[in-house]
Amino acid sequence: MVLLLKTISELRSHVVINRQKHQRQIGLVPTMGALHQGHLSLIKQAIAENDLIIVSIFVNPLQFAPTEDLAEYPRQLDRDLKLCQQLGVDLVFAPNAQEMNSIGDTTVLANTTTVLPPQNMSEVLCGKFRPGFFTGVATIVTKLLNIIQPARVYFGQKDAQQLAIIRRLVTDLNIPVKIVACPIIREASGLALSSRNQYLTVKEKEQAAQIYRSLQQAATAFAQGELNAKVLINLVQQELSLVEGVTIQYVELVDPVNLQSLDQIKHSGLLAIAAYVGSTRLIDNIVLQKRQPIVAIDGPAGAGKSTVTRRVAHKLGLLYLDTGAMYRAVTWLVMESGIAIDDERAIAALIENISLKLTSPNAVNLPTVVHIDEQEVTNAIRTPEVTANVSAIAAQAAVREKLVVMQQQWGEKGGIIAEGRDIGTNVFPDAELKIFLTASVAERARRRWQDLQNQGRNDIDLQQLAQDIKQRDEQDSNRAIAPLKKADDAIELITDNLTIDEVIEKIIDFYEQIN
Ligand code: PAJ
Repeated sequence: MVLLLKTISELRSHVVINRQKHQRQIGLVPTMGALHQGHLSLIKQAIAENDLIIVSIFVNPLQFAPTEDLAEYPRQLDRDLKLCQQLGVDLVFAPNAQEMNSIGDTTVLANTTTVLPPQNMSEVLCGKFRPGFFTGVATIVTKLLNIIQPARVYFGQKDAQQLAIIRRLVTDLNIPVKIVACPIIREASGLALSSRNQYLTVKEKEQAAQIYRSLQQAATAFAQGELNAKVLINLVQQELSLVEGVTIQYVELVDPVNLQSLDQIKHSGLLAIAAYVGSTRLIDNIVLQKRQPIVAIDGPAGAGKSTVTRRVAHKLGLLYLDTGAMYRAVTWLVMESGIAIDDERAIAALIENISLKLTSPNAVNLPTVVHIDEQEVTNAIRTPEVTANVSAIAAQAAVREKLVVMQQQWGEKGGIIAEGRDIGTNVFPDAELKIFLTASVAERARRRWQDLQNQGRNDIDLQQLAQDIKQRDEQDSNRAIAPLKKADDAIELITDNLTIDEVIEKIIDFYEQIN
C-alpha cells in the first residue's frame, strides 16, 4: 500500500529510519501531480534503480506568476495515488503550500529564502518569459533534496532547461545526489506528454503535434549535415508558420549543458521551443548530437591493418569492432550446435536471433572480449578448429548479411573503428574517416618473410611470397562477396617507409582533424 504523507516531520522520520536503519537507497521523483505516462516513466526508472521510491506531488506556487494558471493547474491526488500504488511506489509526499513555506508566487520572494540559479541559465529560453520561474523551481527542489536526501533524483528531458539548471545547482551547492535524466515520452502523434495537454481541445492537440514534427524536420537536416543554428531554427519556424493555431514564443539552439546560444553545432545542441496553442503554452525540445566518428580501415592482406587498428582504438578510446571475432563467434556456434559447416540454410536459421557483444579488452595486446548469447567465448573462438572453418562460414551470404547489419547497428552510436576490405565501401559508407592502408607487394612480402624468419622458418623464398601476395590481392579484389576496394573518399596511406608508430600517429592526426 502506498503511504501518503503530508508533513515534513512525518516524512523525515520515515526516510531516516529507511536510510539509516535499513540502509535503503532512496529514489525521488519530484512532480506537480496530474500524473501521465511521462511521469510514470520516471517512476518506473526510479523503481528499477532504488530500494525505496518517493514521489512528491506539490503544485509549487513559487514557480507560478500571478498571471499564470496556479488556480487551474490540474489537481488529481486520488487518481495519482492509485497510479503510484499500481506501479509500486512506497511513499507519496503531498504537502500543502504552508507546510513547504511556499506561499506567494514568483514575484513574492521577500518572505522566504530562495535559491537563485545562475542568471545566464535562468533568464534565457523560458526564463525570458517567466521571470522568477527557475528560482521557484530551484528553491523547491533544493528543499525536497534536503528533506529527503535521496541517492538519486529523476527529471525528464522534456524540461531540458530545468534539468540543466538543476544539474548545475547540485554541482554548485555540493548536494550529494545523482541526477538521472529520462527521455521525453510522447503520444503517437509526437506530442510530448504534459499535464497541460488537458487544456487542449481535440483540434488543438492535432495542431500541437506539429511542434514535434517541426523539430524533426530540423533533426533531419542536421542528420544530413546542417550545423548552422540560423538555418535549423528557420526550418522550425517555417514549418510551424504553415500551421494554423500555433504561435511560437521562441525557438532557440543552445548548448545543452550551459544553455548559451550557439551559432553552429560543434558536438551537440539543444533545439528548444515554446509555443502557444490557443491559450495553452507548450514546450518541447530535441537534442541534436553528432555521433562520435566511425573510422574505417581497409586495405589488402598483410598491410598491418589489425595491429594498427587495435592500437588506434586503444589510444583514442574507440571500440575496436573486431569483425574477425564476430565471424569466429558464429563459426564456434555452428560447430557447437553440430550443424554441418556447409548447411547454409540451417546456419542462417541458427543465427537469426543471436546476440553478440564485443567489449574492448583491458590491454592492447589482449583479444577482444566476446559474448555470444550471454556466454563468454573470448578464448573458445580462437582455437585451431575454429580457425580452420572460419573462412567457409564468412563466405556465406546469409552470415555476411546478418553480421553486416549487426555491425551497422553498432555503428549508429559511433565511436568505433573497424578494419577489413569493404568497411568504408559497404559496411560504413558514411564513416567520418576512411583510411586505405596499403604497402607495395614487395614491402608486404619482405615483412611477411621477416615474420617467418623470426619464427625460425628459413626455407621461404621471398620471390614466391611476393607472387602469393599478388595473387591474393587479385582474388580479394575480384571476389563476389565484399571485394577489396578503396572508397572514393578514403585517404590512401602507403606504409612502405613508415614504422607502425608512424602509421598510428598519422591516423590519429587525421582523426583529430575531423573530430
Ligand atoms: P512536472 O511538470 O509535474 O514534471 C515532473 C517531472 O516529469 C519533470 O522532471 C518533467 O521533466 C517530467 N516530465 C513531464 N513530462 C514528461 C514527458 N513527456 N516525458 C518525460 N518526462 C516528463 O517539472 C515539474 O513538475 C516541477 O518543475 C518540479 C520539478 C516538480 C518542481 O516543482
